[in-house]
Amino acid sequence: MSRRNASQRYGSVAMTFHWLIAALILTNVGLGYYFNEMLAEENPVRKVFGLTHVAIGITVLLLSLARLRWRLKNPAPPLPAAMPSWERRFAVTTHHALYGLMILVPVLGLSTIVAPHDLAGHVVGPIHEWLAYSLFVLALGHIAAAVGFHFMIRRDRVLHRMLPGTDTGQA
Ligand code: HEM
Ligand code: HEM
Repeated sequence: MSRRNASQRYGSVAMTFHWLIAALILTNVGLGYYFNEMLAEENPVRKVFGLTHVAIGITVLLLSLARLRWRLKNPAPPLPAAMPSWERRFAVTTHHALYGLMILVPVLGLSTIVAPHDLAGHVVGPIHEWLAYSLFVLALGHIAAAVGFHFMIRRDRVLHRMLPGTDTGQA
């Protein structure tokens, strides 16, 4: 498989970024909820999970910036022409929003460390949380579109474009 995106499928670099970042984001939403909502302030485990949350978040930020750089030089394979144009626009808008949030969420997380205490606790922290859950909901919609709608209902090969070693069914 080519490293670069081809006309009908994503290349190996885009796929590696996609699946690695997706796994890290989903892990960090769970970890963020767990350390912040379920563990008491005085519990020493809270610090360990909190620091792991920060480390994973910074990794997501760095990987997403590298991914965006790669993506700007590698246009996405055009969606099948059989898809109605409003669906294609909707998919592209969702992907742009996912890119925006996967950079903004960790940046806001980091801002809680540098912002003055009150601002961090009452403004930046809650915005970070709110946008993190928005990213999660958007990702769930995205997964439902890829697996539920494309793979199971319409039975086209859009999911295969992001899976290594599959046949996209197009020349
Ligand atoms: C992929 C990146 C990230 C995701 C998806 C994410 C997600 C979350 C979630 C879901 C929560 C818990 C919300 C709740 O209490 O219900 C949270 C809390 C928190 N996260 Fe992140 N986070 C990310 C990156 C970061 C980074 C890089 C930092 C750096 C310091 C950070 C710092 C925090 C802090 C301090 C809290 C507690 C906020 C508060 O007490 O209001 N996060 N995060
Ligand atoms: C947090 C989780 C996820 C995030 C943030 C995410 C983000 C993205 C983004 C930004 C794109 C557009 C790529 C580009 O054009 O450069 C994309 C494409 C794609 N994603 Fe995800 N994704 C996630 C999870 C998943 C999962 C779990 C699946 C399937 C089970 C999936 C299936 C796909 C597929 C099939 C495409 C290609 C769509 C096309 O052909 O245009 N994604 N994803």
